[in-house]
Amino acid sequence: MDIKTIGGPFILAPLAGYTDKAFREIAHEYGADCSVTEMVSAEGLARDGEKTKTLLERFPGEEKLIIQLFGPSDDPVRRALPKLIGYKPTVIDINCGCPVPKVVKTGAGSALMRTPEMAAAIVRTIKEFTDTPVSVKFRLGWDEKSMNYLDFAESVTEAGCEMLTLHARTRAQGYSGKADRNAFRTLAKHFEGSNILLFGSGDVFTPEDAATLLDTGLSGVMFARGAIGNPFIFRETKEYIQKGTYTLPEREERIAVALRHLDYAIKYFGEKIACREMKKQLMAYIKGIPASSKAKNAIGEATSRDELVKALTSLR
Ligand SMILES: Cc1cc2nc3c(=O)[nH]c(=O)nc-3n(C[C@H](O)[C@H](O)[C@H](O)COP(=O)(O)O)c2cc1C
Repeated sequence: MDIKTIGGPFILAPLAGYTDKAFREIAHEYGADCSVTEMVSAEGLARDGEKTKTLLERFPGEEKLIIQLFGPSDDPVRRALPKLIGYKPTVIDINCGCPVPKVVKTGAGSALMRTPEMAAAIVRTIKEFTDTPVSVKFRLGWDEKSMNYLDFAESVTEAGCEMLTLHARTRAQGYSGKADRNAFRTLAKHFEGSNILLFGSGDVFTPEDAATLLDTGLSGVMFARGAIGNPFIFRETKEYIQKGTYTLPEREERIAVALRHLDYAIKYFGEKIACREMKKQLMAYIKGIPASSKAKNAIGEATSRDELVKALTSLR
């Protein structure tokens, strides 16, 4: 698959509870080449769930979008596909990395690392239905005793998957511990000369981190926690790759973008939901600003746009 299909190498990773269309729009403004939706339940989509539909809506002008599905087997995915195709995904991604017990106990998410034949069956089911490229986001393995990422990658690519995103941690690690950068090198070497797109995820918090991942031979990088409250990381990374240096945003820009992000969320989801859901993101925007504890408390207690705006602008 050509990198142009997804616009370029710097992608906003799927983040459940975060990467809604408001966040994706802000990330796009700051240079994200494409985004991945929050994980979408194949069963929910097949049953036409309202919440599922909201996850799939785009911001105006969002031409490319990787839609991520999770499901335990090819059956719900098969039933979801006619609906999914209506949303014109640029790429259909399968979640093989989610470590959350509620997901894993159904056989979905990182449980698929233990059943690579089922992950491959899901890929084949999608390929039989549509020409839309398929990708898989996966982990090193279930735990350190079962690091099967290379065999797993082999079986899903044999089934027709054209893009791989390795989150270089095991399921047992969750989101802690260091992501294993050597695994990216091993993956890149294994697929050298193929036309499989290879993305890396894990511990990407600075432009230098992103550059280190690219140096391992990957095609691109997914920004996850490093982009929360920090869409600037896309601009910084592009500048860094071009010039070897980059400019951090001033306090005023951070506050202005936090306010803009809040207003996009209100426009899309209404004031009540947006004010509740945006708190964690607004806190991230102001992280590290000196003497911000009063503003953080005010954000924590706010129930309206006016209160959130007052808290944020108090830091100007
Ligand atoms: C709050 C949160 C939600 C996440 N949601 C998803 C998800 O829906 N689908 C997925 O494949 N990965 C999900 N991830 C994993 C991230 O996409 C990423 O692979 C992981 O955070 C490692 O990157 P980082 O160390 O740079 O944050 C989530 C991670 C976090 C912290």
